[in-house]
Amino acid sequence: MPGSTHDDPLPDCHPSAGPRILPASAPSGFVSLVGAGPGCPDLITLRGLKSLAAAEVVLYDALLDPSFTEYFPQQALALSVGKRGGQAQVEQSDIHRLMIDHARGGRRVVRLKGGDPLVFGRGGEEARALEAAGISFEVIPGVSALQAAAAGAGFPLTHREVSRRITILEGHHLPDTAAAWRDLAASGGTMAVYMGTRTLQALSRSLLEHGAPPTLPVALVERAQSPGQTSTFSTLGHAAAGALRPTTPGPGLFFIGEALNHRFHPTLEIPHEPLAPVSGSAREARARGGRRERRAS
Ligand SMILES: C[S@@+](CC[C@H](N)C(=O)[O-])C[C@H]1O[C@@H](n2cnc3c(N)ncnc32)[C@H](O)[C@@H]1O
Repeated sequence: MPGSTHDDPLPDCHPSAGPRILPASAPSGFVSLVGAGPGCPDLITLRGLKSLAAAEVVLYDALLDPSFTEYFPQQALALSVGKRGGQAQVEQSDIHRLMIDHARGGRRVVRLKGGDPLVFGRGGEEARALEAAGISFEVIPGVSALQAAAAGAGFPLTHREVSRRITILEGHHLPDTAAAWRDLAASGGTMAVYMGTRTLQALSRSLLEHGAPPTLPVALVERAQSPGQTSTFSTLGHAAAGALRPTTPGPGLFFIGEALNHRFHPTLEIPHEPLAPVSGSAREARARGGRRERRAS
């Protein structure tokens, strides 16, 4: 838009409008890749929830709290296709096939993914598979674990005096050259390491060896935004010495950076009010005294 700046108001999005309408051009089947947020249902977006309410097939991830299924429509076919700790229960190619086959069968499919679909979630691969198959689809963003953990544990990810960048890393694939480690150690902002609870000691050691100060604050936030959330604050030196260990079976996110020194203490540690039932959901059916039934795959 000519003359537009990033401060211009957004167009009216009508968030209170009723059920979402499929694009007129969409064939009968449609796939929504929906970010579910960090695990508990009350952190899904309103758009994601509307999409879920209209689903005929839900393919969902392992990291979601089981209570999520309460928000699946009663008649929807719900299939867990999650992977946990790298243990594939369903091959990625099978997930693609399921989405494509159900959409070709004219069904409205929700692929419900932990956090944000495009952050370490293979959402990009799934979107490209749908595109290649000629299936209409959308991507609905979600709250990523990074944001959930910072808000839950009480620290900023950026801070105008000490952290003006966020580096997102994957703990299974750390730098493999001294130059890359030196760059990382000198990067200065906040590092957030997904899938890094098992490698946090090795990561901390390497950062120390390549110039990061041992006093740099670190935090391990586990089960962010769930009732079992834990957050452990320490220093890089202690983490390198093995003094920082997971306290739960996970999942967990490891943070490093000066911004962690700017902690705050939310009054309500974990907001956990239940969501209102979605019309036609399994929860609503139970409230009416009905049994919850699932179609077999
Ligand atoms: C395969 S990645 C998926 C990330 C997801 N797409 C997102 O945007 O948050 C899984 C990793 O995310 C992190 N994670 C997911 N949920 C979490 C939570 N509730 N608390 C802490 N870390 C979490 C952990 O590092 C976990 O190993």
